[in-house]
Amino acid sequence: MRRAACPGSFDPVTNGHLDIVGRASQLFDEVVVAVGVNAAKQRLFAPEERMDMLRRACRPWDNVRVESFDGLLTDFCRDQDVVAIVKGLRAVSDFDYELQMAQMNASLARVETVFVPTSPEWSFLASSLVKEVASFGGDVSGLVPDFVHDALVDRLAERHR
Ligand code: PNS
Repeated sequence: MRRAACPGSFDPVTNGHLDIVGRASQLFDEVVVAVGVNAAKQRLFAPEERMDMLRRACRPWDNVRVESFDGLLTDFCRDQDVVAIVKGLRAVSDFDYELQMAQMNASLARVETVFVPTSPEWSFLASSLVKEVASFGGDVSGLVPDFVHDALVDRLAERHR
């Protein structure tokens, strides 16, 4: 059994994330979507909300499950018997930081990082941008699953009340 992790904050999950998770599910026997729970960081969605959205979005893949982690990703990989961390690369600008993290993670544990090029249709996509555009009333439908879009619009409306 070769198990991979797709880590991230997923605040919220986008179609770009799902592109990478779906492709990782073809490459590995099992994929664990690892939701980083860093209490020090301000998030729009609580960890359980982010995980619920991911579980719903990942239903099409029966070898994908969703877990949370707090602390080092390499500790999570060790605990879950993960052999590879799968990361999407959107552009060259992602590469410097991702390489640094891959090398740090490899120095901490026996875990490889596999880079998967993001599909061109999602190469501009980031959760932070989706939130910013949506907060100013921009149309982000088509960039996230429909139920995530509804949750995003509702949450932003609550914030502006
Ligand atoms: O979606 P994000 O915010 O880019 O995800 C970043 C994440 C959660 C994958 C990264 O911050 C991470 O791995 N955090 C866990 C803490 C850790 O292991 N830090 C050392 C990284 S070399």
